[in-house]
Amino acid sequence: MPKIITDLPGPRSREILEMAEQYEPRSMGDQMPVVWDHAEGCVVTDVDGNEYLDWCSGVNVTNVGHCHPYYVEQVKAQCEKLFNCYDFVTQPRAELARKLVEITPDHLDKAFLVTTGSDATEAAIRMARRVSPGYEVIGFDGAFHGRTLGAAGAGGMGGTKRGYGPLPPGFLQAPFPYVYRAPICKGKSEEECAQACLEYLDWVVEQESEGRLCAVITESYQGGAGGIIPPKSWMVGLERWCRERGLIFILDEVQSSFGRTGKMFFMEHWDLKPDLVCLGKGLGSGIPCSAVVGTSEIMDALPPGSMGSTNGGNPISSTAALTAIEIMEREGLAENAARMGELFEARFLQMQETTPQLGDVRVMGLMGGLEFVEDPGTREPAPELTRQVIWEAFQRGLMCIAPIGLYSNVIRVAPPLVITEEQANEGLDIFEEAVAAAVKASA
Ligand SMILES: Cc1ncc(COP(=O)(O)O)c(C=O)c1O
Repeated sequence: MPKIITDLPGPRSREILEMAEQYEPRSMGDQMPVVWDHAEGCVVTDVDGNEYLDWCSGVNVTNVGHCHPYYVEQVKAQCEKLFNCYDFVTQPRAELARKLVEITPDHLDKAFLVTTGSDATEAAIRMARRVSPGYEVIGFDGAFHGRTLGAAGAGGMGGTKRGYGPLPPGFLQAPFPYVYRAPICKGKSEEECAQACLEYLDWVVEQESEGRLCAVITESYQGGAGGIIPPKSWMVGLERWCRERGLIFILDEVQSSFGRTGKMFFMEHWDLKPDLVCLGKGLGSGIPCSAVVGTSEIMDALPPGSMGSTNGGNPISSTAALTAIEIMEREGLAENAARMGELFEARFLQMQETTPQLGDVRVMGLMGGLEFVEDPGTREPAPELTRQVIWEAFQRGLMCIAPIGLYSNVIRVAPPLVITEEQANEGLDIFEEAVAAAVKASA
């Protein structure tokens, strides 16, 4: 349970924040003014000894809870043995590849290990281009696949793309069924919006393609854009659309995997069969680790040595990921996420009834996107109110990351998957108070 013992930010936090401000670029982050010191399970302690309930999980990373004792023990043991051996095979790496193949759909039979989510999405795009006679990749408005140039090119968030000059050519962009806000969805039901977005794909191809299509890449739910869950019919229709055209279907599950949405993988909800799946974040559950899992038909088309990386699949990361998966399976964390997610959703919907500024509530397992608006009628984004809610929550001992969403008006709810019912209720009570205080302050 949270325990706030100083004014926030506390004195030690302030000192370190000043140092960071002096020596780090301001582009590093935009979080609440606090310096994390250590964390356990769902509780974060700052350098002044204040304790907070965590709704961040780093950023959807520490799915097994902070510093899970078994995870720490296994990683420590590996640290005494071997850190890096480039792309020589190690037992943890081979075992992790086997495990990833075992727990993903049957048609996926190879796993390639890298370090960050961007590495994984870049690698998937490179593989698709290498194996296909075409090179054009279709991505979606609002998508986030990382900040490297290829990943940004495939993405569709203005903030990630704008101001950096031309990104690599060969990317086409199509509308994503953001039912609450996308212009193409205005006045339409979920199903109509899904249908309109699917139909628009052919239009994009007709107008923009050179006839050299290769792949389609999409996030499962869009994370950075605000936790936007597409209608099932759109995703299933998109997969079919790819199949009908012989295109490679790449699913970016960097954020949505490893129990986050209430199943080990998002693709299990709708029985999706992507050709390549990108994983990251919760895979390592703290130690950087990412992967592309795919069909050998695609992955083995690349010659030996063409896709290695310095730290990809290193024994520490591989051990961390193997251990995290073991914990998730043993402790039933995906099931806990599904159960707790229902509790979160019910409370948020209840809050929405009395808080018109809570324009849209999107929850799937322990992934929540709460979109704040000035007025539910106009749906004008309310970024200041959103930030104020996060500030009020922080002051009361609930840690949320800075606003997300295309208009910085969405609060991300992503506690570690080990959260208990008691912690969930406590956090929700604080959040409710924070919303009320922020609304009052903005009135
Ligand atoms: C869906 C998705 N893909 C890719 C990435 C990029 O991952 P990383 O920041 O580890 O490069 C992210 C990060 O937020 C993500 O959410």
